[in-house]
Amino acid sequence: MPKIYTSEKDERVIDNVLKKGLFAPGPKWTVLRIALAISLRIPTEPSDELDKGIKGGSEYSFEQLTGESQKPDYTDSFCALLSVYHQKDLFKNIDQYRIYLQRHARRGLREIRTAWKESHDFHEYLYQELFSNLISQQQKMDEDIEKQVKSALSEIGVKAEIRNIVKGPRLTRFYIYLPNINDLDRLQKGLDKISFYLGIGKHRVFENMTDKPRIIGLDVPRPASTWHYFTGGDLREWAADPPSDYILPVWPGVDVLGEPICFDLAEAPHLLVGGTTGSGKSVCLHALILSILHNNYNSNLTLCLIDPKAVEFSQYNGLKNLYNDEIVTEVFDAHNLLSELVTEMSKREQKFAKSNVTNLTEATLAGITGLPRIVVIVEELADLLMQKQDIEGPLIRLLQKGRSAGIHLVLATQRPDSTTFSGLLRSNVPSRIALTVQKSTESKIIIDETGAERLTGKGDMLCRWLGKSVIRIHGVHIRRDDIASSLKEISRGQINGDR
Ligand SMILES: Nc1ncnc2c1ncn2[C@@H]1O[C@H](COP(=O)(O)OP(=O)(O)OP(=O)(O)O)[C@@H](O)[C@H]1O
Ligand SMILES: [Mg+2]
Repeated sequence: MPKIYTSEKDERVIDNVLKKGLFAPGPKWTVLRIALAISLRIPTEPSDELDKGIKGGSEYSFEQLTGESQKPDYTDSFCALLSVYHQKDLFKNIDQYRIYLQRHARRGLREIRTAWKESHDFHEYLYQELFSNLISQQQKMDEDIEKQVKSALSEIGVKAEIRNIVKGPRLTRFYIYLPNINDLDRLQKGLDKISFYLGIGKHRVFENMTDKPRIIGLDVPRPASTWHYFTGGDLREWAADPPSDYILPVWPGVDVLGEPICFDLAEAPHLLVGGTTGSGKSVCLHALILSILHNNYNSNLTLCLIDPKAVEFSQYNGLKNLYNDEIVTEVFDAHNLLSELVTEMSKREQKFAKSNVTNLTEATLAGITGLPRIVVIVEELADLLMQKQDIEGPLIRLLQKGRSAGIHLVLATQRPDSTTFSGLLRSNVPSRIALTVQKSTESKIIIDETGAERLTGKGDMLCRWLGKSVIRIHGVHIRRDDIASSLKEISRGQINGDR
């Protein structure tokens, strides 16, 4: 079995790193792997003096270093890495590949010996060693954007001082001080020019009024490679601590500075989610569904999932909160379901009238039981309306009167135009989320203002909740495995699940 050889000095470095750097007894080959990474950050090739170990050293097998013949076996990955580094096809010369591995591992150990002081934190040293270039590249990029924003402002004739810069998950917010208030107008009118100057013309620089005198915030999008995404794990954390007075708390994502945003869907009381294909509607719906389940799985809650595409909601099959234990995929069944809900709504209204209460919350307080809150989620509203126009009848009745009966609708659509979303439908859905859309007119239809046509995509959204002012949210990125693990945790009772 081929081996990697070290020297006595190398062995001392390995022991030191384990004892005084990592504070772990072993295994020793972890230090060899770290050394390998450090060596690969050096652009010049390691010398052949390192080919053999010296007396007093040790031997390590390739099984240990690269997992050769083991599971998992990283030989191919290491071989590819070294082939790129040395500009040689090492897959054809495995002996040479092994020699290079030894040279790199030993050179890395020598680097650690000379650069790391035992009194210093090893992890910090490693971070600087491995990422220092990346950190300085990042700093340079930030400085470049700052310079460009300053020049753009001066090009449009605005005298301004950058007072503060805050980096959010996807955007950098520049707090700009305007000594001359007449420049505000010029700045607002010049936002497109600034975007053009910065080379982000397609995505807009958004302005934000602040509560500080003469200070305005400018949100400048950064390249996607620098974005920080929020995931299902973050959603689970937020959901563990919901606002106490919310009935159906939902977390679509975070604001531009990275703070989680929570709404009460029961207050909404209905929501439209519009956006072009690939803008993140389905991901957003998953965030809403999981939010609801996190806090209401064991309580009186029924979910009606309508998915004409029959693919998006399949992971919720078997969920105990599903209406009639099924996900509705046929338009005819969707029509039936909505009509049944209209009947249910009327029954509830009669029940409430008899008990002298006006809504589900009061009814529950008055001791009326057995009436679950019902949330209807429609994956593609346009598909339903195009195939069966008369579905609009029950839909509008539910939108008009569902709130007091505890019935809430979330309607998603790829086509937020006036045919799909008639005036009557629109006026009865007070809460809206616009993901990226194709045209400014679509943005206007959803949130009553333009802007969503210039978002950065991938769950970037403008949200008008209950007709209040628009806020920008970066959606939480729910993946399929997030859904599976959240559903597992929820059903095991590991997250609230009950309110
Ligand atoms: N919040 C997010 N963060 C990061 N990436 C996202 C986010 N939301 C969506 N994406 C990315 O965009 C892709 C498309 O999202 P999604 O399937 O939700 O789009 P959609 O609007 O439902 O499209 P369609 O109308 O075609 O169904 C996702 O697979 C994911 O890669
Ligand atoms: Mg979708």
